[in-house]
Amino acid sequence: MFDTGGNVMKVLLTGATGYIGTAVTDHLTAAGHQVVAVTRGAEPQPGRGWHAQLVGDTADPASLAGLVTPDIEAVVHLAPPSGDAEVDTAAIEALATPLRGTGRPLVYTSGVWVLGATGAAQEVGEEAATNPVGLVGYRPRIEQRVLAEAAEGVRAVVVRPAIVYGRGGGIPAILVDRARTQGAPEYYGEEGVRWPTVHVDDLAELFVAAVERAEAGSLWHGVGESTVPVRDIARAAGRAAGVLAAPRVVPVEQAAETFGPLFAEALGLDQSVSGAAARTALGWRPSRPGIVADLLAGSYRPVEVFGAPEGPETDAEVAAIARLVAEVEHAQQNELVDGFLEVFRRADPVWTTGHGKRLSGFDEIAEFTRKVLPGATAESTAVYDVERVLFLRPDVAAVNVRQQPVLPDGTRITDRPEGRPFYILVKEDGAWRVGAAQNTVVA
Ligand SMILES: NC(=O)c1ccc[n+]([C@@H]2O[C@H](COP(=O)([O-])OP(=O)(O)OC[C@H]3O[C@@H](n4cnc5c(N)ncnc54)[C@H](OP(=O)(O)O)[C@@H]3O)[C@@H](O)[C@H]2O)c1
Repeated sequence: MFDTGGNVMKVLLTGATGYIGTAVTDHLTAAGHQVVAVTRGAEPQPGRGWHAQLVGDTADPASLAGLVTPDIEAVVHLAPPSGDAEVDTAAIEALATPLRGTGRPLVYTSGVWVLGATGAAQEVGEEAATNPVGLVGYRPRIEQRVLAEAAEGVRAVVVRPAIVYGRGGGIPAILVDRARTQGAPEYYGEEGVRWPTVHVDDLAELFVAAVERAEAGSLWHGVGESTVPVRDIARAAGRAAGVLAAPRVVPVEQAAETFGPLFAEALGLDQSVSGAAARTALGWRPSRPGIVADLLAGSYRPVEVFGAPEGPETDAEVAAIARLVAEVEHAQQNELVDGFLEVFRRADPVWTTGHGKRLSGFDEIAEFTRKVLPGATAESTAVYDVERVLFLRPDVAAVNVRQQPVLPDGTRITDRPEGRPFYILVKEDGAWRVGAAQNTVVA
């Protein structure tokens, strides 16, 4: 959480109902600010955490005039471009004019696609020239229009998010959906294509930092991981969809049949973009798990939960349990004996293996693991997915896991049965560990 310096602001937010807008609302309010949401319809939306709701359509700039009243201390513009540069310019005009001479922030949301393919350059910074893909062709001009407001006494700021993930949404959710419907994960463009990425909650914290302390006329890349092979993202999206097949790369021309030519071209962009400047200058600290980890064992994996109330605290415990099971998988796939033993509780763990071998106590489990794990994955290994969690107590959970045999490249071995591991986990000293484990082979 950022120090607001006690300066609580009333923030007008366009795009507040959207993917990023929902997270920005959460983080602005958590930092003590009040969100005044601009929505296209007047329908009240209870439970969103907004201080107030106003009606406005960014495609109709006249409807924005009058929304930035003297009590509005900051404006965050998240609604997407209309497709018409004149309209978007007029929307900026309507939002900026009342802020002139006040030194109050206007934060405009662009995106890293304005940079185009970054080619051989690594970790491209904010100073790089723009080279936008068609989908965002005129957006650099809107960025410049916003930044020009700095000369008029507006604390004008531009944020360019990378590919946003987390909370089970954004573009990665499209990859999960495509993997499910196509029976194999897919990605677009060339084989080696890479995306810069950012977790939606980390990005929302950058917006809070921008509102609170970015300088007039500044532009920031909202990038958590500079460059991630999209093949890895696609493979993880397949896992999230329960599809264990090798990812296939779809040429942009073919992807255009599904997504239209402009979006397909953007999905196929190969980029390496730096988010270092915001870390250094704004003290931004992206801290969430990376996109691949989140797809493998995080927000894109629906888990049935019993015995605990719905809410962020339960979500956090389930996420911690999913991470423990991901550790089981990682240790097994990489034959890490110590890593595997690390998941067990020290005090009297028990484990009945899939072959019916009963192991009692940490030492017996350790001896067995040292004997069988090294060399075990030469021809095959397994993936582990948490399916159900029953909280017997807040610190004791019964966990149903699905174990599927895979080749070392992650594709499913179709003629080998699944396992149904069942774990009793105990939370001690803040960490979940396996107290008892049993595996049953599916007949
Ligand atoms: N997601 C990413 O990976 C990503 C990456 C880089 C940049 N961005 C940029 O970030 C911004 C937000 O993206 P997002 O992913 O959060 O999009 P989103 O989930 O589609 O949300 C868009 C939001 O804008 C609102 N909106 C759309 N048209 C509007 C209009 N004419 N007037 C007023 N409000 C309107 C929507 O309201 P309704 O509820 O009325 O539909 C919704 O609240 C966009 O500018 C996008 O280009 C996104």
